[in-house]
Amino acid sequence: MTGVIPRRPYLELSVFPTSPYYARMHVQRVLEGWRREDLVETAQLVVSELVSNAIKANVRHPACSEGAAHGSPDHVWVDLYRAGAAVVLRVWDASRTPPVLRSPDLDDEGGRGLCLVDMLASSWGYYWPAPGGKIVWCTLTAAESETRDSKL
Ligand SMILES: Nc1ncnc2c1ncn2[C@@H]1O[C@H](COP(=O)(O)OP(=O)(O)OP(=O)(O)O)[C@@H](O)[C@H]1O
Ligand SMILES: [Mg+2]
Repeated sequence: MTGVIPRRPYLELSVFPTSPYYARMHVQRVLEGWRREDLVETAQLVVSELVSNAIKANVRHPACSEGAAHGSPDHVWVDLYRAGAAVVLRVWDASRTPPVLRSPDLDDEGGRGLCLVDMLASSWGYYWPAPGGKIVWCTLTAAESETRDSKL
């Protein structure tokens, strides 16, 4: 999962509260184009959490944004690509700070987003691409959609 980002279509989003919505629309459009409707619901849940986190990271760590992806802490980027039967979803933000999987108590206000990603994705992680910032990625497979449906 490390290395230079290959050229492929991506979505650039402003650091704005409505951006998770546009990310959800984007993954739906791309997945439907690939005839992977089976992954749409899961991918929308996951991208919503990852983009929300990316936006918070950009806002929280503006000092870390120098040399950020495409040179702007005002944006985050989303892309997807196919890897066999799986789809890899990536969200690129301007912060070098890594995400931390938490174990929230019932009365904790946050810490649930990555738990959801961890539950829905077959794998996830992050890396620091050469141009700057950080990419959080996850892989989605049809089996994860079925697993989620049986857990809900
Ligand atoms: N892209 C990111 N960059 C930097 N830190 C991150 C990023 N994503 C997550 N984190 C860190 O990991 C923690 C856990 O993320 P998680 O999404 O589980 O919880 P949250 O965003 O704090 O709350 P919630 O998602 O439940 O509203 C965050 O509090 C933050 O410290
Ligand atoms: Mg979150």
